[in-house]
Amino acid sequence: MIEIDWAGEAGRLRASAAGEADWNAAVAGTLVRDTDKVVADVGCGGGGMAKALAEARPGATVVAIDADPDVLAQAREHTGGLVRCELASMDDGAEPLRQAIAAPADLIWASASVHHAADQQAAIDALVSLLAPGGRLALAEGGLPARHLPWDLGIGEPGLELRLDVAQDRWFKVMRESLPGSVPLPYGWTEALTRAGLTEVTTRSVLSETPVPLTPERLDRVVQGFRTRIERLTGTGHGHGHLVPQEEWLTPADLEVWQQLLDPEGPYFLGHRADLAALSVRSVHIGHAPR
Ligand SMILES: C[S@@+](CC[C@H](N)C(=O)[O-])C[C@H]1O[C@@H](n2cnc3c(N)ncnc32)[C@H](O)[C@@H]1O
Repeated sequence: MIEIDWAGEAGRLRASAAGEADWNAAVAGTLVRDTDKVVADVGCGGGGMAKALAEARPGATVVAIDADPDVLAQAREHTGGLVRCELASMDDGAEPLRQAIAAPADLIWASASVHHAADQQAAIDALVSLLAPGGRLALAEGGLPARHLPWDLGIGEPGLELRLDVAQDRWFKVMRESLPGSVPLPYGWTEALTRAGLTEVTTRSVLSETPVPLTPERLDRVVQGFRTRIERLTGTGHGHGHLVPQEEWLTPADLEVWQQLLDPEGPYFLGHRADLAALSVRSVHIGHAPR
C-alpha cells in the first residue's frame, strides 16, 4: 500500500517548478496560440508550467488547479499573481474542474498528474469536456528514463541507475493499485485521448540535455532528485539520512551504494563528481477537440 503525501511533497514541487523554468518556457512557447483566451494547468504542482503559460500568452486567463491545498499554496506563491489558483480534483468528475476554470478552455496542460487519478480515462474524459471547440489537451506523461550517471561508478555493480528505474516502475504499479477505486488503463496515452473524442492526436517528445560540467546548482538538483527517489522507495523522507527499506524495491547491496553516493561526508558523494550530466526525454501527447 502506497499513499503519497502531497502536502509533504509541496516544497519539492515548488523547487522543481523553479528548476524546470527553462524547459517549461520552451514547451509553453510551442503550445500557446495568439488566439488562446483561457488556459489551464491541471495538477499544477508548484505552478512552473502555469507561470510559463501565463508569460507565453500574457493576454490569456491562466488557471492553475491542484487537489492539494499545500501544493496550491506553493503554486500561488510561485506564480505571483499571474495565474488564478483553484482547488479541485480530477477524481471528482468534470464539474468542480469546470467551476474552477469558469469558461471553456482553449488549452489544458496536465503533466504527471493524470497518472495519479484513480480512473485515468475518466480524468481525461473530464478534461476534454472542458475544452472549447478546437481546444487542445496536452498531456505530459512518460518518455524515456532520464540518464545522469556513468554506467560504472567505481562502486557497487554497474548499471545502478537502470536498476533504480526498474525499482521505481514496480513502485509505480503498487502506487497505482493503492489508489482508492483504481482503474487500469491498458493502452497508450494517445489511444486514451482518441477515446475521449479528440482528433489529430499526436505525440511530441522533448529532449533536454545538460552536458558536463553541470553547474553546482544543477548538480545539486541531480543529487537531490536521486535522494528523493531513494527516500520514496525506502519510505523515509524529508532529510532522513538513514535508509531503511520498507519493501524490497532495491537490493540491500544497491541500497548501501546509494547511501554512500548520497552521503556528502563520504568519499563517493555524487555531488563531488565531474562526470554527471542530465539527459531526459519527456513526451507530450496532444489532441484537438472537434470544432
Ligand atoms: C507528480 S506531481 C506533477 C506536478 C506538475 N504538474 C509537474 O509536472 O511538475 C502531481 C501533481 O498532481 C496533483 N494531483 C494528484 N492527484 C490529483 C487529482 N486527482 N486531481 C488534481 N491534482 C492531482 C498533486 O497534488 C501534484 O501536485
